[in-house]
Amino acid sequence: MALVTFSNPEYKDKTVYAVAGSHTQSLLKLARENKIPIEFECEDGDCGTCLVKVTSVDKKPGRMGGPLTEKEKSILRQHGKITKEELEQMIVDDLPSPWRLACQMIVRDEDILVEY
Ligand code: FES
Repeated sequence: MALVTFSNPEYKDKTVYAVAGSHTQSLLKLARENKIPIEFECEDGDCGTCLVKVTSVDKKPGRMGGPLTEKEKSILRQHGKITKEELEQMIVDDLPSPWRLACQMIVRDEDILVEY
């Protein structure tokens, strides 16, 4: 079980359980199932509407839902959230990106804070 806390200045924080291990549940799907009002449009990694900031809270380094998908890399670059250099550094150092697309990020067995 992973604990996912959704946080937005306009709403009360909400922490939900995610059933980890299926490797198919996206962060956006989890949010929608729990009535978290994360904005979205395409649900396919193309529009960038579902951009969220993700922080690991269980202090295990280098996880946070696995590496960025190719679509995420492209959208994060377009939105100026990540530079080419930062992206290359993340790959070299195997670091997770703090910015993710909720529709692309698969929930793993780790506790995270999601700011939307
Ligand atoms: Fe369009 Fe996630 S909803 S990128």
